[in-house]
Amino acid sequence: MGKIKGKLGNDFCPQALFLYGNYQEDGTPHFGLFCWATYCHIRDGGEEGLGFVTCIGEEKLTKDLIRQQGVFSANLVTEPLLPLADYYGTVSSRENPHKMERLPSVEPGQVLRVPTIAESPVSFELKVLEERNIATGSDLFLCRVCNVMVDEKFANSPLPFHQSLLKAAPVVAAGAARYASLDGKDMGAWGEAKA
Ligand SMILES: Cc1cc2nc3c(=O)[nH]c(=O)nc-3n(C[C@H](O)[C@H](O)[C@H](O)COP(=O)(O)O)c2cc1C
Repeated sequence: MGKIKGKLGNDFCPQALFLYGNYQEDGTPHFGLFCWATYCHIRDGGEEGLGFVTCIGEEKLTKDLIRQQGVFSANLVTEPLLPLADYYGTVSSRENPHKMERLPSVEPGQVLRVPTIAESPVSFELKVLEERNIATGSDLFLCRVCNVMVDEKFANSPLPFHQSLLKAAPVVAAGAARYASLDGKDMGAWGEAKA
């Protein structure tokens, strides 16, 4: 069987989901849900580094806070975190000023002033190096990963990579507007996983 022309999308190479975190002016943590993100290699004056690239669409509080502060956290979304993550991704702060009445357990970043989510096994602390507008309502943020906070039980796990990954249980999403687990479970439609 050959290939046919498909619809534009990434259904067969989905992204991990992250909750981006910032502090608001009054110190309240803020989180939004994001999937358009990937990594890149950064070499800075001979020093090896890890980069994080994200695309943020229409104007929203998450984008305002990232622009104002130049830093944010990216917290990996796992199966237990999905209901809260889905809420953060389908409720707009602009339309719902009380969105942050629901909060996870928040811990300060280790090197940047960003809120991180204790229930997430992996939190990146990110500093924006460059913002690039690529089309109307589509902005790329190229960031340096300044620190990674990893749940001890995964950081020191004797398990091989694939087993550790399944244990961490990240959720992926693609164009089908549904969530899936890495072991093949349908985790519901966007907006359906609200608790
Ligand atoms: C599964 C999922 C993935 C999302 N990924 C992105 C993304 O990569 N970029 C983006 O701009 N918005 C994305 N969104 C939309 C934001 O989460 C949404 O605009 C949210 O309201 C942002 O929070 P805020 O209004 O508090 O800033 C996604 C939403 C869902 C449900």
